[in-house]
Amino acid sequence: MTDALTMEARYALAIASLRLFGQEHLLRFWDSLSTQQRGQLLAQIEKLQLQLVRETFANRSEHRHHGTPQEALIVRADSQMRTEARLAGEAMLRAGEVCCFTVAGGQGTRLGFDGPKGLYPATPVTKRCLFAVFAEAIAATQSRYGCRVPWYVMTSPLNHEATVAAFKRENWFGLLPEDVRLITQGTMPSLDDEGKILLASRGEVALNPDGHGGSLRAIALSGALRDMQTRGIKTISYFQVDNPLARVCDPLFLGLHQGHPQSSGEMSSKAVPKVSADEKVGVFAVVDGRTTVLEYSDLSRELSESRGGDGKLRFGAGNLAVHAISVEFAARLSGDGSKFALPFHRAHKRVPFMDPVSGEMVEPTAPNAWKLESFVFDAIGFARSAIVVEVDRAEEFAPIKNAHGADSPASSNAAQTERAARWLEAAGVKVPRRADGTPDCNLEISSSTALDAEALHRVPLPPSIARGATLAL
Ligand code: UD1
Repeated sequence: MTDALTMEARYALAIASLRLFGQEHLLRFWDSLSTQQRGQLLAQIEKLQLQLVRETFANRSEHRHHGTPQEALIVRADSQMRTEARLAGEAMLRAGEVCCFTVAGGQGTRLGFDGPKGLYPATPVTKRCLFAVFAEAIAATQSRYGCRVPWYVMTSPLNHEATVAAFKRENWFGLLPEDVRLITQGTMPSLDDEGKILLASRGEVALNPDGHGGSLRAIALSGALRDMQTRGIKTISYFQVDNPLARVCDPLFLGLHQGHPQSSGEMSSKAVPKVSADEKVGVFAVVDGRTTVLEYSDLSRELSESRGGDGKLRFGAGNLAVHAISVEFAARLSGDGSKFALPFHRAHKRVPFMDPVSGEMVEPTAPNAWKLESFVFDAIGFARSAIVVEVDRAEEFAPIKNAHGADSPASSNAAQTERAARWLEAAGVKVPRRADGTPDCNLEISSSTALDAEALHRVPLPPSIARGATLAL
């Protein structure tokens, strides 16, 4: 609508609504901007949801959960249930009812990698990037079940173009271009301690991606949801870009999601037992009768260290950030994208900004700004009932988040090698191990060779692996 208005009229509308919310400083440098810069700044301002921003900032409680958290009920399926669920999940895949969804809009600040995180060389031997790892798993799933598995990847405005360019350059990582769809998430403005929106420069608002919960709005606004419905997709296999061991389209999990007596089939989650009380993962809990994730930054020390009668951590079910979500549920939550059900959380971060008084750029050394993000796991509370399924960490969790230490490329490579070693040993191969039990070699098994441990039994394998060897299968 604003396209038809003159620049002056748009300015008048913008300044009026900014004044209403005490944000008129965003137009402070108007006189010094070129016509093009003015147009760009107005376009940003017109998209700001000022009322929502004000309400979110005013909600000062960092801990959104009011009731006392209780332990979540964790599903540990017995062997009969596993067999039945796997068959049901395989039937869902054969019927072409499952798609993949990857959230890849994060800025990867902690890893210090310059570019979309999906392009990070993640595997121990061939250094294949994360996108390539998932594409191989999708291709292997398609050929095993004779189906098509469309892949939706959510980027942010900060990495969208670079991600699209990479997919084109890499020829869609071997998948059909029409089965891969890159969609962009929305943004929210960064605020100072008084709730004033920051400027990134004289003519630019400081914006940050609106969190992975933004995926539920992005799928509606981008048309991805309609695309899923048209294709007959009923279930979304959701995972984060940072975990090369994420089991995409896991039939067992899909089957439990659809058929477990306690599942509404709307949203299910995977959990791994935490390695220690202070591991940086969210944990599943029940608050006010609803299953939810308590983020590690929100969990008090007392609760994170509290143990039950069996000596185990009471809140020890770590959020793997892997979900099965029904398309119908996603459609109900996201509506047409204009109304958004998920709450926003505030995180205090370091954000460089332009001082609206002096006109100087400020590079803060400590957190100075509030970023507003919604989290996809807040959707769990909207499901009629939701299950959390415990899985084996060694099989499914090797995230790459930090440059060094825990959850780093080094720890992920070790975990990927360990999983490959387990699969090889189960297939009768002798794998050299060090005194501490870790494999004394570097191993990688591509999904195109074996999608799971059982599939490796059908692959010709050497009887043993030499100490210090490097092997990619
Ligand atoms: C996340 C989970 C945590 C879980 C852990 C498992 C949150 C808040 N916490 O922690 O509960 O135990 O993973 O590894 O998610 N992303 C977007 N857009 C955004 C923000 C993030 O696409 O606006 C994507 C990132 O690309 C990444 C994922 O979401 O793939 C995780 O985001 P991040 O903020 O790094 O969460 P973690 O602290 O790793």
